[in-house]
Amino acid sequence: MSEAHDREVSGSQLIGKLLDQASRADPYPIYAELRDLGGPVWIEEMTTLVVARYGECETLLRDPRLSAERWRRGGDQADRLYPPDAPSSVHQPWFLSQDAPDHTRLRRLVSSAFTARTIARMEPYITQLVDDLLDRASERDTFDVLHDFAYPLPVAVICRMLGVPVADEPLFQGWSAQLTRLVDGLSNATTDGETPEWEPGMTDMHRYVNELIAERRTSPRKDDLISDLIAAKDGGDALSHDELVSTIVLLLVAGHETTVNLIANGVLALLRHPRHLTALSADPDLAPAVVEEILRYDPPVQLTARIAAEDMRIGEVDVPKLSMIILLLASAQRDPEANPDPDSFDPHRTQARNLAFGFGPHFCLGAPLARLEGRLAMAGFARRVQNPRLIADPPPYREHLNLRGVSELPIAHVTRT
Ligand code: HEM
Repeated sequence: MSEAHDREVSGSQLIGKLLDQASRADPYPIYAELRDLGGPVWIEEMTTLVVARYGECETLLRDPRLSAERWRRGGDQADRLYPPDAPSSVHQPWFLSQDAPDHTRLRRLVSSAFTARTIARMEPYITQLVDDLLDRASERDTFDVLHDFAYPLPVAVICRMLGVPVADEPLFQGWSAQLTRLVDGLSNATTDGETPEWEPGMTDMHRYVNELIAERRTSPRKDDLISDLIAAKDGGDALSHDELVSTIVLLLVAGHETTVNLIANGVLALLRHPRHLTALSADPDLAPAVVEEILRYDPPVQLTARIAAEDMRIGEVDVPKLSMIILLLASAQRDPEANPDPDSFDPHRTQARNLAFGFGPHFCLGAPLARLEGRLAMAGFARRVQNPRLIADPPPYREHLNLRGVSELPIAHVTRT
């Protein structure tokens, strides 16, 4: 048997192991084995190529022959996913899943409203929120970092930016939990055309956002992202109504579970490396470096996906048009060829190479906001929570492979006032 065939067999077995819930707490040894296979792995039964090494992931993220229009793989199936009375905006792909020139146009319009200034003006609110959440947690001598801290923070921040009433935040938490399945990459690649479990959440969120926009068109607000997006102009161009809805849904989905995992993964890494937690509590200026290392060491988004826009050859594999290409970002960052001693958690790294926010034209638009939330959350936790101890290590994990994260993170502690 050829080397390529052997690699395919070993690769399939490793992917099987990766999909198994038992490996959710620590997928990193499996990623190392995938990298050691020496090149991308073709999984015939999924018509999917899996890429695990840094250099290949980085190169492919810039390769124009790869398309982000993953929905094309399902043919017209995407149109049949929604009930007939769903708002028309559900059929408008968000720009995360579009290629140039549509992607370029939409991203430019959204960037003109989602600016550094928009994000910077959130800092006092986030600082207060971190304090309030830790105040509430301090009333008990054990608390759950996921439910009491990491989960409520990002949803409150994005709802505040969009002017969603606080009373409606639980709705967003529910929808967002369902939609996490949509971006689950590898496990998504195996769905068989039935109505996916995320569909009702998506349709309801579109209905809600449609109403929100209608309300904001009649009464625009100052310092409000929806009003800014409605007003956004690039020359004579503006977002259509459906593009506006789909963009707002994207901001809500892309910014929530990801940042939840950044905070929870970060607290977990610090509790497992108490030396760095002590250093951070003494010097909050270390927070940006700590956040960068969390993003490298245990990233909230483990992978991203593209499809082959044409027949192509990647490494030693012939990849037919419309094949799925899975780029294992979390594996790439642990590639010793990119980052020496990759399995050690070390916020003092200089020149760490990081794909946590992607690379190339789809680089995360929310990275500055996520970094700000991560920095304030980590610094607040280190300053306020004294002598924290993990109650279970490893903690239990949710089933998601891509937006991989804990399902609870209880700690015992004494919280400082
Ligand atoms: C894109 C990660 C937070 C909005 C992406 C991509 C990654 C990513 C990997 C690229 C996906 C691809 O290439 O296919 C993360 C992580 C976050 C985070 C790890 C938190 C730690 C946020 C936040 C927002 C956001 C807070 C906004 C509120 C977006 C948008 C895109 C994107 C709009 C699409 C960009 C494009 O297609 O041009 N993110 N993200 N993200 N992210 Fe984030």
